[in-house]
Amino acid sequence: MNKGLSDPVDEIASGYKASQILLTANRLGLFTALGKGPLSAAALAAEMGTDPRATRILCDALASLELLDKTNGVYSNSELAAEFLLPDSPKSRSAMLLHAAKLYERWSKLYDVVRTGQPVPEEEIDSRLRGDGRDFARAMADVGRLAAESACEVLDLTGVRRLLDVGGGPGVYALAFAGANPELQAVILDSPETLEVAAANIARQNLRDRVSVRTGDAFVDDLGGPYDFIFISNLLHIYSKEANRKLLVRCAEALEPGGRLAVKDFLLDPDRLTPAGGAVFAVNMLVSTEGGDSYTAKEVQQWLEDAGLVFESLENVATHSRILVARKPQA
Ligand SMILES: C[S@@+](CC[C@H](N)C(=O)[O-])C[C@H]1O[C@@H](n2cnc3c(N)ncnc32)[C@H](O)[C@@H]1O
Repeated sequence: MNKGLSDPVDEIASGYKASQILLTANRLGLFTALGKGPLSAAALAAEMGTDPRATRILCDALASLELLDKTNGVYSNSELAAEFLLPDSPKSRSAMLLHAAKLYERWSKLYDVVRTGQPVPEEEIDSRLRGDGRDFARAMADVGRLAAESACEVLDLTGVRRLLDVGGGPGVYALAFAGANPELQAVILDSPETLEVAAANIARQNLRDRVSVRTGDAFVDDLGGPYDFIFISNLLHIYSKEANRKLLVRCAEALEPGGRLAVKDFLLDPDRLTPAGGAVFAVNMLVSTEGGDSYTAKEVQQWLEDAGLVFESLENVATHSRILVARKPQA
C-alpha cells in the first residue's frame, strides 16, 4: 500500500491501516473462504455473511497489498496468502493474527498506558477477541516453529536426558529438541489450558513416550527434577526483574550439578535498541503486562550468575532473538 510513498513519518503513522486490513480479513475467515477457489466480492460476501460493498473494498485493499490476486473482478489468494494465511498451511500465521487482533486493541490504548504505567485491563478488550490459553498457545505455535528449528541448531543437547521447558506453551521447542535427540525426555510446564494444545501436538508427533506435560505455576509449584537442562523461552519478558530473579533461582535449584539453563528471548544489547524488534516488542509487554519488558543479555546474565550459575554462551537465533546458556557448577 505504501509503495512509492516518500514521507517516512506518514509511512510509520499509516502502519495501522495495512495491519487492520490483514487482521480483519483473517478474523473473517476470508483467506479460508478463498482457499476453496476464486470468488467475486459478492459471492465472497455471501459466503462470509458480510456486507457486499464493504467486502469489495476490503478485497481491493488486500489485492493492493498483494495478499489477494484480482482477475476480471474475481479474487483469489496470492502465493503469500496461500503460504502463510490458510489455517492448515505448515507455515500458517493465522492463529497468531487472531491473537494480534486482540493486541491491536491494547495498542490502541497506548496513550493511556504511557500516562498511567498500567496495562490495558482485559475487560476493555472486545469480548469477541479475548480468547483463552488455548488460542494463545496456538498463536505461539505459529511463531515458534522457525525459532525452534534455529534453537535446535544452536543448542548442543548431546547427552541431555531430562529437559524441562518452563512456560513451554504449545511444546514446539520441547518437541523439536526431543525429535532431534533420541535420548532426551522432555517435560513441558505450563497452565492446564495451554497444555491441552501441547498434549495434542505431542500426540500428533507420536512423542508421548518422551515428551510429557506438567501443570503448574513456575513461581509457586514444584518444578520436579532434578533436570540436566532447563529451557526458558519467551517467558522472562512477561515479568518484572524481581520476579525473574526469583524464577531463575527456583530453576537453578531444580538443575542437577553440571546441568545447564538456557534463556531464549530478545536479549537486547546494552543500548536496548538491537536486535531489531526488541524495543518495539517491549511496548507490547507494556500494554499487556504489569511488569514485563525486553531485557538485555547482560541483565539476564547477571540474574543467572546471582542464582549461582556460570555464563557459557550467547548465540543469535531466528528471529531476532538470542539464547543465553549458563551452567550450574559441579558440587
Ligand atoms: C510467550 S509464551 C512462550 C511459549 C513458548 N515458551 C515459546 O517460546 O513459544 C509464555 C508461556 O509461558 C506460560 N507461563 C506464563 N507464566 C507462567 C508461570 N508462572 N508458570 C508456568 N507457565 C507460565 C504461558 O502460559 C505461555 O504458554
